[in-house]
Amino acid sequence: IKRIAVMTSGGDAPGMNAAIRAVVRSCAYHGLECYGIFRGYEGMIEGDFEELGPRSVKNIINRGGTFLKSARSKEFRTAEGRLKAYQELTKAGIDAMVVIGGDGTFTGAHILYKEHGFPIVGLPGTIDNDINGTDYTIGYDTALNTVVEAIDKIRDTASSHNRLFLVEVMGRDAGDIALNAGVGAGAEEILIPEQDMGQDRLLESLKRSKKSGKTSSIVVVAEGDQIGKNILGLADYIREHLTEYEVKVTVLGHIQRGGTPSCYDRVLASRLGVGAIDALLAGEKDVMIGISHNKVVTVPFKHAIEGENEIDIELIRVADITSV
Ligand code: F6P
Repeated sequence: IKRIAVMTSGGDAPGMNAAIRAVVRSCAYHGLECYGIFRGYEGMIEGDFEELGPRSVKNIINRGGTFLKSARSKEFRTAEGRLKAYQELTKAGIDAMVVIGGDGTFTGAHILYKEHGFPIVGLPGTIDNDINGTDYTIGYDTALNTVVEAIDKIRDTASSHNRLFLVEVMGRDAGDIALNAGVGAGAEEILIPEQDMGQDRLLESLKRSKKSGKTSSIVVVAEGDQIGKNILGLADYIREHLTEYEVKVTVLGHIQRGGTPSCYDRVLASRLGVGAIDALLAGEKDVMIGISHNKVVTVPFKHAIEGENEIDIELIRVADITSV
């Protein structure tokens, strides 16, 4: 291997820049050439490549977003699109690639490897933390801190006005952000797609806590939760059946994806970026580099993207007990 490419794809996540930096500098350390691919698979299909040296990635470890830009490519989902991408990679003399993204990015990489045998190593970069085989994804910790900070502020106004707030957080089909930020912010209830609570049980629980003396409430709702999918409808339902509270809805949205990466995300991204080049040099392909029990591990793409998201049952219990 002489020339490696690096790209970010799918939803951006804080720490992606730190991961790119680690890949580029690890290439320089090992005497490999490194190319950046702009705009994910879309840029790959169009041959939007640029050589990157160790100084090209200065002053980015602290920046959110991704300086290589990101995209969700429809064309790459077709065999013709992937063939074009493969041709552009070989035309540019690229021997192997590091892709930073989530399950969609890894699915594309896995298919590209199967169809054209192109060596690819992936780094989990998504705020959702919904990838198998890694305890954490790059960007998740920062997103959690953003959500907790936002809910702390909402709590001030909720308690001043005796209100109930439904706070919607991201996580496509995964409840990790909702559960962890919910526990961290002291939420009353947490609705996640992995565990269907149902409107009636939610209402009963809110009535119980009102009786127990609570004067305000925060309910964290994962965007993928069944009843949370219609958060305005849920708010109406609660208003109708729990008249003691004034009910408000806040959708946190894309602020969760931006901002300065936390120290944890920067260190994680740096370790995984170095791990990616080590893995390629050791002949690995079609794998993700993740973190498990604080050790850098190699996980086949197939395993990283299969099955349902696993949720921490112990933490659900902690949430139940601490919100009593
Ligand atoms: O996968 C990351 C994520 O932020 C999800 O939590 C969310 O559902 C989705 O991306 C939003 O995607 P977009 O920015 O393309 O609307």
